[in-house]
Amino acid sequence: MSRVIGIDIGTSSVKAALVGERLDVLAEANRPIPVSVPHPGWSEQHPDLWVDAVLACLDELAAAHDLSGVAGIGLSAQMLGLVLLDEALRPVRPAILWNDQRALAECADLAALVPDIGHRTNCAPDPGINAAKLLWMRKHEPEALDRARMLMLTKDYVRLALTGELASEPTDAGGTQLFDIPTNRWDEGLCEAVGWRIDWLPPIVQTWGPAGQVRTELARRWGLPPAVPVAAGAGDNMAATLGVGAGAPGDAVVTVGTSGVACIVDGAFHPAPHCAVLTSAHAAPGALLSMGVVMAATASLDWAARLTGTCAADLAAAAETLLAEGRAPDAPVFLPALTGIRTPHGRPDATGRIAGLRLGADAASLGWAVLEGVAFLIAECVAAQRDAGVPFDRLALVGGGTRSALWMRMIATLLGQPAGLSDRAPVAACLGAARLARVAAGQDSAESLAARMPDFPRLVEPDPALAEILAPRRARFRRLMDEALA
Ligand code: XUL
Repeated sequence: MSRVIGIDIGTSSVKAALVGERLDVLAEANRPIPVSVPHPGWSEQHPDLWVDAVLACLDELAAAHDLSGVAGIGLSAQMLGLVLLDEALRPVRPAILWNDQRALAECADLAALVPDIGHRTNCAPDPGINAAKLLWMRKHEPEALDRARMLMLTKDYVRLALTGELASEPTDAGGTQLFDIPTNRWDEGLCEAVGWRIDWLPPIVQTWGPAGQVRTELARRWGLPPAVPVAAGAGDNMAATLGVGAGAPGDAVVTVGTSGVACIVDGAFHPAPHCAVLTSAHAAPGALLSMGVVMAATASLDWAARLTGTCAADLAAAAETLLAEGRAPDAPVFLPALTGIRTPHGRPDATGRIAGLRLGADAASLGWAVLEGVAFLIAECVAAQRDAGVPFDRLALVGGGTRSALWMRMIATLLGQPAGLSDRAPVAACLGAARLARVAAGQDSAESLAARMPDFPRLVEPDPALAEILAPRRARFRRLMDEALA
């Protein structure tokens, strides 16, 4: 069997991995990408930024490796980005990202237009989601909207650039509030409600199916064989979940990236719109994925690092020293609502909070507060998902945040369950995309994606001493949450 390439278009960086027969990462390339914030609460990226970063990653892989044996390419990307293209399939404006808060007023408009939208899509209207953003465009940028003839998602735009084909697939489409999750079709009624034509949406293909072939000129540029299939691919949360082998109900994966997401594989649709859990198809046959979303996970750590003039890795390492010094109980308590709260309260307008500041508070104690605040909010998400009837018995941790051992111990401790951790956790989304590429290339069966998560050589165990430190602090965290929601 030959190699495949998995690409993940995240919010802070694009990563590409050349993956071998045993899902081993043979080479990696990475390009940071900036988010632009033209107004407080807005969050945009130009779609061509993604394409340029993907091309640069592939150029780098091709410069150092022989890609002539590559059998397929798979894509994973940040979800919910509103990409509007004109007749020539060029973006009419920068993409409005998943953590953009501008469409707050339009959420109320959407709820009035489609009173049962929560039950239909399993999520109350949210400014991060495409449907509300379309209503915002109608009100605030009607000229740009009038020029738009196609609505795409991040990985779909990148696939268009790689292959020239228009397509989307259920994992990503299911997050737009324009899609009927049970039947895997764009929803005519929802589209009509927001004034969007259903024929201005790309055809839906299977997540693991081929959705085009690498353009001839790109194949030549990278030394790929002719007609390499590009799999439809998946939302990053599905891809990361699949990347560690979680494909069947009972498997759960917490992704700790720019956002922190409790992803639980589910066998049925369990609507609980009041707690703003997102549900979509999983990137494996017959399964759905329930997603409890913390909007700012490593985004919170990056924010604190900028504030203290350090970098995220050093700040997380400094936070570890608090334990040895016995200072953790005195650290401030932090609510990481820097871009609002989605799960479990659906309050995009909420803002972050910090309590318990003393003269002795330093960068390390702020670092602790941030890691812990994100872990507390992830635990709140999981509690809401369990209450909604989505249980799990196996847990793994993935994403760039897994580089902090303390952070992972906090999460395993608060969830009260050992969590699998692999060396490949930071590139799990690329691995999931690579698995989809293998199926699209006919090297694996679709059914192989639907297996239960395997055992991990390394487990992060809940830590009773840490649990004792965290318990009284969680009560303080909940008081901060009550304040933020008041
Ligand atoms: C989930 C979501 C985020 C992005 C992050 O709804 O929007 O987790 O997928 O890339």
